[in-house]
Amino acid sequence: MKKKIFSMLLAGLLPCLLHAQETPVPTPQWRPVYHFSPPKNWTNDPNGLIYLDGVYHLYYQHNPFENKWGHMSWGHATSKDLLHWQHLPVAIPEIVGKDTTTWIFSGSAVLDAHNSSGFGRNGKAPIIAIYTADQPKQQKESQFIAYSNDGGLTYTNYAGNPVVDIHKKDFRDPSVIWLEDQHKWLMTVAVPFEHKVQFYSSANLKDWELLSEFGGQGDTRKIWECPSLTPISVDGNPAKKKWLLMVSSGNPDGATGMQYFTGNFDGKTFTNDNPADKPLFVDYGKTFYAAIPYNHLPENRQTMIGWLMPFEKATSPWRGQMSIPRDLLLKTTPAGIRLFQQPSAVLDASLDKLPAAKKMTRKAMTINSKAVPLNGKRYFNTNTNWIDATFTPGTASDFGFRIAQQKDGNGVVIGYNTQREELYIKDGNDVQRMSVAATGNKIRMQVLFDRSSVEVFVNDGEKVLTTLVFPGNDASGFSVFAENGSVQLDTLKAWDLDK
Ligand code: FRU
Repeated sequence: MKKKIFSMLLAGLLPCLLHAQETPVPTPQWRPVYHFSPPKNWTNDPNGLIYLDGVYHLYYQHNPFENKWGHMSWGHATSKDLLHWQHLPVAIPEIVGKDTTTWIFSGSAVLDAHNSSGFGRNGKAPIIAIYTADQPKQQKESQFIAYSNDGGLTYTNYAGNPVVDIHKKDFRDPSVIWLEDQHKWLMTVAVPFEHKVQFYSSANLKDWELLSEFGGQGDTRKIWECPSLTPISVDGNPAKKKWLLMVSSGNPDGATGMQYFTGNFDGKTFTNDNPADKPLFVDYGKTFYAAIPYNHLPENRQTMIGWLMPFEKATSPWRGQMSIPRDLLLKTTPAGIRLFQQPSAVLDASLDKLPAAKKMTRKAMTINSKAVPLNGKRYFNTNTNWIDATFTPGTASDFGFRIAQQKDGNGVVIGYNTQREELYIKDGNDVQRMSVAATGNKIRMQVLFDRSSVEVFVNDGEKVLTTLVFPGNDASGFSVFAENGSVQLDTLKAWDLDK
């Protein structure tokens, strides 16, 4: 009898308890202001980044129904300045059939300017999305295409899908670009568990021919996903071109990250410039993943957006955000050609337009074994600071910024240690670091702090460390500091981007 009453109680109580646990606590304090996040529900990878008629389209992996991964569809937003995003209806929803559910996994979008696919109407070039159809019931992934004749708002799936199928459970994330020289399309797509990418070419986006494979190099400890291959000029010289192959996988600390290869692509095969066992990383934090470049940007500009993985803490009513759009640059360094990243130059215009009260400049400050507050009651206390500072290291062992400071001065530390030549972000007991030496005895730090994301670009973006932080209420102090000696803050510019 006792047992029965107990189980009746449990049956009644358990759903309540479970429900109570699931009731989301809204977290507006962590909602980014100048980074993209969906109005509500889950996002992961950016998809189909394409620039058309002055508009940046951002499609993204989205669950339209819940604030967790599932029902994968392509969400959609557009922007003219890469700062303000207009939210639009889901562009490609999951396909629910009688026996098959097809999730719309990551991929890319191209403007089919010559109507090679034949999907264009009335002489207008269609936009073609190339994505992975994930069919969980069939345990299968293959590549599908869909076309849009309304400027990318809605898409129709091609009746002849799939366009590439190698009968595998894991085979995904096609990235397609137009090769003007060869007048053909090039697809780079990942075979995740084999740590390789495949290259295919096509004249019409429907029929694809396997060209070659590249893999087993760099970091192969984790699966390979979301690849992209892009030609980029070196040192800004259009006559000097290299190919940048990016892959989302692992980084040396075992954290999830992205790696890249530079090399040559002869229209068929990619050859790595660096030794096979030398991995190069795009970002040194735990958070940055699945970044892909924009298609169809003018003047050979290359700009990417990545996903900041929201696994450490739940936010509500949305979960997941994008990185700042980053310009990609290849530069010759003593170690060889390396990837540098900068917040997109397109954003400068928006920073310039801010009113004087939201801008701060400092010059030639000597900071001596202390922390100097930079904010006041009414300014720079919204945790939405964009900081650009150059230091000349002196006797201080450590220097940098404290952000999201509580009244007692504790907060998130963005520091540089001169002995170890290391940039670090310290948030409580969690320390993430990357080694980076001074350039001409200077350390430039660009710190983009947006409520719950921190992106730190060091020395013109030679290395980047990105992470998520979750400050408590009232933790909004902002100061510059030096420990065990002095440092010279040559210049500081900061912008408060709170709306
Ligand atoms: C990367 C990824 C992709 C896949 C998508 C599914 O985060 O796993 O490989 O297409 O997410 O949402």
